[in-house]
Amino acid sequence: MTRRLRGDHPDDVEAAATLLREGKIVAFPTETVYGLGAHGLDEAAVRRIFVVKRRPPDNPLILHVASLEHALRLWRTTRAMRARAEACALAFWPGPLTLVLPAASIVPDVVTAGLGSVGVRVPRHEVALSLLTRAGVPVAAPSANLSGRPSPTSAEHVLRTLVGVDAVLDGGETEVGLESTVLDLSREVPTLLRPGMIGRDALARVLGDVAVLSSTKAAQAASPGLRHRHYAPALTEVTLADRHSLGSAWTSTVALLVLEETARDLEQRLGPREAPLERLPSRPEAYARGFYASLYRLEESGADRLLVEDVPASEPWRAVRDRVHRATGCA
Ligand code: TXA
Ligand code: MG
Repeated sequence: MTRRLRGDHPDDVEAAATLLREGKIVAFPTETVYGLGAHGLDEAAVRRIFVVKRRPPDNPLILHVASLEHALRLWRTTRAMRARAEACALAFWPGPLTLVLPAASIVPDVVTAGLGSVGVRVPRHEVALSLLTRAGVPVAAPSANLSGRPSPTSAEHVLRTLVGVDAVLDGGETEVGLESTVLDLSREVPTLLRPGMIGRDALARVLGDVAVLSSTKAAQAASPGLRHRHYAPALTEVTLADRHSLGSAWTSTVALLVLEETARDLEQRLGPREAPLERLPSRPEAYARGFYASLYRLEESGADRLLVEDVPASEPWRAVRDRVHRATGCA
């Protein structure tokens, strides 16, 4: 049985921190998505995350800490790397940015998947920060979903797919809705490994040049998580469609996930429909916030075919577009 703990009750947060220190597995809210946490320096505890999530062992985990000071103990940096890490932390922490740097020897291989580097972040969520402060240890946490499924943005989503979790700390719905930006600072030029809501332009203002791995192959070699199918809702068929092909691919028995204005347009032209329709706002931040919850609702709806409308190719949509394409098997 998974214990349900309340994020707004200090005793419950303390209980969650104690469980973590004892090597137990605790799901907890962050500003991005819920994480599946374990004591990050306890190899046996970290191994349980891989079992519960059914995560491939070649996919490294992020460590979560309460401050830059704690993060610096987990890395083995040159002076130049350290300066960049500090600049990023000053600008974006606490927040949805994971920094990858060479790992200190205290970080177990099971966390780094043997890569020699480790991703660390300080989350911007009151409950997460209170948990991390009380736990007093770095907390390894991938997103708290079964490997390959959409990331959870509520405690209910976690309980929907995972068994064997010792406790879930409930902090309501998450604010950002997409996983953190992952930035590799161990290279000559800082390199974006996973786009997130902290975009390339914002990073470039702090760091100067920021590279984006140009080929999918290069990205997969640098960030093993990208090799695996991700964010896929459990429906028989999930297809990406642009706005214009939606009309022809559309039948009243196909579920739709579309932008608000497209939904209005379809309803006007085609009238009421049998299958569920999810609409998301046409601003990337608001779309990001609602995306995974829409996928989970569509899974529950009984629909078996889903069409997802493509989103704009512009820079502010980069992270959303990445997740939409992966969820539909297009990336
Ligand atoms: O927002 C988030 O980052 C959430 C919350 C819980 O913090 N966590 C999360 O973790 O999304 P996860 O494990 O689902 O995704 C981590 C990504 C994976 O794509 C992984 O391959 C990459 O970060 N990653 C982690 N450590 C890495 C490293 N040392 N080198 C390259 N990529 C790394
Ligand atoms: Mg994940």
